[in-house]
Amino acid sequence: MTFPIDRLRAETPGVDHVVHLNNAGSALPPSVVVDTVIGHLRREAEIGGYEAAAESAARTEAVYDSIARLIGARPTEIATVENATVAWDMAVYGYPFRTGDRVLTGRAEYAANVIALLQLQQRHGIEIVLVEDDDDGQISLDHLARELEIGAAMVTLTHLPTNDGLVNPAAEVGALCRRHDVLFVLDACQAVGHVPIDVEAIGCDVLSATGRKYLRGPRGTGFLYVGPRAFERLEPPFLDLHAAAWTGPRSYELRDDARRFENWETNHAARLGLGAAVNHLLDLGVATSWERIRTLGEELRSRLTELAGVTVHDQGRIRSGIVTFSVDGRDAVDVHSTLAAQRINTSVAAAAVGRWNREPWGVPDLVRASVHHYNTEDELDRLASAVAGSRGG
Ligand SMILES: Cc1ncc(COP(=O)(O)O)c(C=O)c1O
Repeated sequence: MTFPIDRLRAETPGVDHVVHLNNAGSALPPSVVVDTVIGHLRREAEIGGYEAAAESAARTEAVYDSIARLIGARPTEIATVENATVAWDMAVYGYPFRTGDRVLTGRAEYAANVIALLQLQQRHGIEIVLVEDDDDGQISLDHLARELEIGAAMVTLTHLPTNDGLVNPAAEVGALCRRHDVLFVLDACQAVGHVPIDVEAIGCDVLSATGRKYLRGPRGTGFLYVGPRAFERLEPPFLDLHAAAWTGPRSYELRDDARRFENWETNHAARLGLGAAVNHLLDLGVATSWERIRTLGEELRSRLTELAGVTVHDQGRIRSGIVTFSVDGRDAVDVHSTLAAQRINTSVAAAAVGRWNREPWGVPDLVRASVHHYNTEDELDRLASAVAGSRGG
């Protein structure tokens, strides 16, 4: 099948205005997402917010079906929340930690997750065990297996890090966790919509994701998957009248599905937009999309590697559409601004968000150019020539 690039670009109005290589920040949404969100907001204005929610109830239910299909889960195992951090926090803060519980995590763990773990360390006296990388920069499965032998309450892993093209071996980690009956929490924020995900095949118990990145959904959307083993062991850190029912003057009962991790008031328009984004990707096919992203990522790396004074920093045996690089003698922030002035969107992966996977090796702030399936080779050429021009005398 020829990749339908013309159709995808025609469906993406943003490509007429910018070369968007900040998809790991927030991707350009397809028109169907924008129309869905605006359409619902209009209905709220016309007939009232509660009435518009009632009118779209079946479409809202279908959002859970779509997300479940995307990741190989059941709709009852999905909660929609406002971002990936809230999804991850609702699960991890919901674990009944006891003093001395060991949590195993990798060097590429996302900064917000690390901060949360550090708070849990202060609060409950958990022990955070840092599993080393292997020679390819992936989490070391040998080291993980040794630590699991010692014992652990939980393993947390970031599948695709924010500041690296690395793809961590999630399914191998899942298999080890299953063998040791340890809860496996997967941060799939950069992975969902980017690489094919099947929670059964991966063997994760919890998965957190965001809407605005590789799913191309609206900002302020995300979701949480809670598998059966996690459902038994986790309790939402706080409850409201959506997560639980007030059953008597002094009693309440939790919902019997993953929506116990949600709260009542939410952005209905954005949630419908998330569903539209998931359907748009399912129509294209996640495997087709991933093949395109992976090819563009490697093409961009080879264009940048050819430039004298430019270093690509991505690790991993399999590399994603997230490309990180530095330019000799130039700050990443300056390179980013030079590119922005030419309407080429990238972002800066600050060393401060990589205190475990960048800072120890003295890696500076990096420019991050992240491709999506709607990008073109011409756009990669434009980035490469703008980077070449940014090197100065
Ligand atoms: C790997 C990873 N995890 C979690 C997050 C947090 O996602 P959100 O901003 O939706 O909470 C990010 C955001 O960049 C990320 O890259």
